[in-house]
Amino acid sequence: MDKELYVAALAARENAYAPYSNFKVGAALKTTEGRIFCGANIENGSYGLTSCAERNAIFNAVSSGCTKFATLCVVADTAQPVRPCGACLQVMAEFKIQEIIMTNCQGESKRVLLSELLPYGFQLSNKNEE
Ligand code: THU
Repeated sequence: MDKELYVAALAARENAYAPYSNFKVGAALKTTEGRIFCGANIENGSYGLTSCAERNAIFNAVSSGCTKFATLCVVADTAQPVRPCGACLQVMAEFKIQEIIMTNCQGESKRVLLSELLPYGFQLSNKNEE
């Protein structure tokens, strides 16, 4: 596994704001140029407004002008490496994040391709690729 990315995801997890679920998640995203952007889950008393760690990492990167990505690493304190939710997979598909490293706090990891987790994601045919 990518140690640098894993350590960044673990550090981001420390910033999770999860007073309702107490389930802290961290994510770290590496651009094709090797830059790393992080995210943590941020919950809200209006539960549906909660924002996942993976999406926060992606939006953090895109907001900083980066849109080309290599790998996303996600970490949580789970028995098995944590799996991204469907909404996050759809956002990963938008930005063609092909490789996902699912991990847990014990350092166990599983590398998967987005195409394995979301083989038939939604696509709009009128996308302007520039
Ligand atoms: N969560 C994530 O951050 N990423 C996921 O892929 C799934 C779930 C968060 C949302 C919520 O704060 C907590 O985990 C429990 O669902």
